[in-house]
Amino acid sequence: MRYVVTGAAGFIGSHLAEELLAAGHDVVGVDSFTDYYERSRKERNAASLDVLEADLAVAPLEPILAGADGVFHLAGQPGVRASWGETFQLYLDRNVRATQRVFEAAAAAVWLHGAAAGRVGPGLISEDIPEALPGVLRDLFDPSRLSALSL
Ligand SMILES: NC(=O)c1ccc[n+]([C@@H]2O[C@H](COP(=O)([O-])OP(=O)(O)OC[C@H]3O[C@@H](n4cnc5c(N)ncnc54)[C@H](O)[C@@H]3O)[C@@H](O)[C@H]2O)c1
Repeated sequence: MRYVVTGAAGFIGSHLAEELLAAGHDVVGVDSFTDYYERSRKERNAASLDVLEADLAVAPLEPILAGADGVFHLAGQPGVRASWGETFQLYLDRNVRATQRVFEAAAAAVWLHGAAAGRVGPGLISEDIPEALPGVLRDLFDPSRLSALSL
């Protein structure tokens, strides 16, 4: 299988990518190497991986997702205190905008997401259960209201 792992230079994404490779899968890693913590740590995380440097909030995603069997979306901007004030827009871009773009680009072909798993069971949701997708997408594609509720 061929998987896209976003946030592949991050803590969770890099470990997941390594496990997928060890299990014999192809992995396309994507990360923008944000400065939330030192770039050198992310480069070490990604040392054994092939990580494409791209910002998911703006980069064309179709070429990245082409041919993927599944997407693990682990890119994000951690931290709670810093998420307000001057850096609010940055959190919106990295957590909301990037996620919306990844989900929208991935929805055409594959879906792998915790909320979806809660609804239809764990694992890859693909063309074998097309009837589940509309409901899952409806649940997940109300991001502005969900975001507002969490403020
Ligand atoms: N580590 C934990 O204990 C934990 C707990 C709960 C939730 N989470 C969440 O899981 C996700 C991954 O956590 P982590 O610990 O691996 O964080 P991390 O900061 O180590 O990794 C996230 C990676 O995403 C990348 N990234 C951010 N915005 C991006 C963008 N727009 N385009 C491309 N790459 C981008 C960053 O450069 C970083 O390498 C985060 O959303 C985090 O909030 C983590």
